[in-house]
Amino acid sequence: MSGLRTEPVAWTPGSWRALPAAQQPGWPDEAALDRVLGEAAKLPPLVFAGEVRTLLGMLGRVAEGHAFLLQAGDCAESFDVFSADAIRDKLKVILQMAVLLTYGAGMPVVKVGRIAGQFAKPRSADVELVDGVELPSYRGDMVNSAEPTRAARRPDPERLLRAYHQSSATLNLLRAFTKGGFADLNQVHNWNLEFVASSRAGRRFEAAADGIDRALRFMAACGVDLSGTSPIHQVDFYTSHEALLLGFEAAMTRRDSLTGGWYDTSGHLLWVGDRTRQVDGDHLEFLSGVGNPVASKLGPSATPEQAVAICARLDPNRVPGRLTLITRLGADRVSELLPPLVRAVTDAGHPVVWACDPMHGNTFVGPSGHKTRRFEDVMREVRGFFAVHRSLGTYPGGLHVELTGEAVTECLGGAEEILDGHLERRYETALDPRLNASQALECAFQVAELLRGA
Ligand code: PEP
Ligand code: CO
Repeated sequence: MSGLRTEPVAWTPGSWRALPAAQQPGWPDEAALDRVLGEAAKLPPLVFAGEVRTLLGMLGRVAEGHAFLLQAGDCAESFDVFSADAIRDKLKVILQMAVLLTYGAGMPVVKVGRIAGQFAKPRSADVELVDGVELPSYRGDMVNSAEPTRAARRPDPERLLRAYHQSSATLNLLRAFTKGGFADLNQVHNWNLEFVASSRAGRRFEAAADGIDRALRFMAACGVDLSGTSPIHQVDFYTSHEALLLGFEAAMTRRDSLTGGWYDTSGHLLWVGDRTRQVDGDHLEFLSGVGNPVASKLGPSATPEQAVAICARLDPNRVPGRLTLITRLGADRVSELLPPLVRAVTDAGHPVVWACDPMHGNTFVGPSGHKTRRFEDVMREVRGFFAVHRSLGTYPGGLHVELTGEAVTECLGGAEEILDGHLERRYETALDPRLNASQALECAFQVAELLRGA
């Protein structure tokens, strides 16, 4: 069903179906899709309403300027690159970044992965040309395969279930790693990846880890018994993804038995992308009714009026932490485009979390033909973001980055100086270029300094 409706109708997990659909794959077999969605609706929740409410409270602390949000992970998770080692290494880098921010800036860090559900991608064009042949675009492993053949690009609803099961296995491992001793601060040295340890960022991390060790020993020597202190031994780690495929998200949306409220149990935090943030569109309709914390990307075309309308739609009750606005304006334009957005939202009284995605506004195709980003542009956008918030008296509350724990060569620059000619050595991303582990650590050091300058 589609077409514009004239009167607002009561929200249900399916009320978005009355609105124009943005960025949905053309599923060739509707009956097969409905069968799969019916099956998904019976599968257990991946996350629980109580966890979601805890995250909402922590993001409320971020909105008030008392904590910092680190949201990081893959651009697109993949069915092929799926292993315990890859999950562990990604988690290690995120934990390293978080501990550098906490230690360097004295700030609690709310850790949210782009992980365990980040499988569906919006695309600028429905088709792409591969060697002169026009093929349907790749839309993420949850929809079709990146392999450039017509058969592989056909959307297959069975992939929704495969993504669910991979998310479930990923979450199981993340829960074990974060609660079972691996994320214990006494293990901080072990988070440094072998190939990073000898790099400049790796050595700086070792120095910070020594400092943390000393602080723990100092407290023990003073008689502070930390053995039962769970924040030292365990980490709260949350999941997030772009809520793109609304049929699947609706199937995962359940009523909480404690509060009676609706929660999308496919992930803790859900966001709409820059291509699906239309105020009267189906994605905002869906997110408006779930109790999860939600986010919207804001790209260079976002107007202050649109930003305020998104706030009114997703955060009518002005709840701190309910809504995060993730700006991705580009290093060259952040100083010009961010202030009007921040002023308008602040004047409208919405207590949002402001986060900076310094990746998606700085992508270009290099001479070698690889889609890439310059580390220096990434950091320039982050510095611009902090400068704008400082000058307006608002709080730069978060960082949103695409990274991996592998030693990939996808983004240019950094202390190891990756050049265009190096990109082909290990260019493995399914879509967007990611920071490698050393670049991610360098980024965290610089952000910690900016936060300290608060
Ligand atoms: C993304 O986060 O991978 C993405 C596609 O971002 P945006 O919606 O900001 O373009
Ligand atoms: Co991306």
